[in-house]
Amino acid sequence: MIQDVRVSPDAKQLFRAVAEDSLALALQAVAERGRFSVALAGGSTPAALYALWASDYRQRMPWDRTFVFFGDERYVPADDPASNYRMARESLLDYVPIPPAQIFPMRTDYTNPDDAARGYEQTLRGFFGSQSRALDLVLLGLGPEGHTASLFPDSPALQERERWVVAPVVPAKPQQRLTLTLPILNQARTAFFVVAGAAKREIVRAIRNEPDSAAHGGTSQYPAGRIRPVSGQVVWYLDQAASGS
Ligand code: 6PG
Repeated sequence: MIQDVRVSPDAKQLFRAVAEDSLALALQAVAERGRFSVALAGGSTPAALYALWASDYRQRMPWDRTFVFFGDERYVPADDPASNYRMARESLLDYVPIPPAQIFPMRTDYTNPDDAARGYEQTLRGFFGSQSRALDLVLLGLGPEGHTASLFPDSPALQERERWVVAPVVPAKPQQRLTLTLPILNQARTAFFVVAGAAKREIVRAIRNEPDSAAHGGTSQYPAGRIRPVSGQVVWYLDQAASGS
């Protein structure tokens, strides 16, 4: 079940809609709390959004007050072509004036990935300090079988209720991941799903057609359907190809 859906005619207008709404969110967060925290999505879809942020929105976003986290990471070196950090750096972070101390990649240079997950949780806890543990914006993509971040269907990571970051092995390449978990994702003030292309049409339809009870009970069979911030909003940004409309 998906409540708030915004459909754009094509991907270009989809990314502009997301850029406009994230700008409004960022300015509101800075006005209310003096800073804007965002967890970036990985994969390929968001690169065009990040490029838009780095160009048309370069002068408009409050980059000096922005704190960048990641929703998930592939457990590869930071300069590996599969790295979400590398994708974000090459499309956004190298082009906007965010103070380096305000960019928090998920480190992938620990011998044990679980140590990396625990380290990232400490990074998040240090950022929040005594303030509310709510990221202002979590950007999320959608996999063809309903995964989001690196939370895949039937994964034990979906049952995690305490830890904010875990290191699952997933049925996609690269298999070793780091991912935020539902306890921290569902504390977000706002979650934006950004989904484009006809390849996502079936999974979008499946999630949209889930009975209300499944979504409300948090028992959606799809990890993306379990993103339900306790006091935040979820907005699904789709292009027409993904929405099937
Ligand atoms: C990742 C992402 C993942 C992604 C979906 C969609 O690390 O791969 O975080 O959740 O958002 O797999 O990926 P595409 O945008 O490439 O379709």
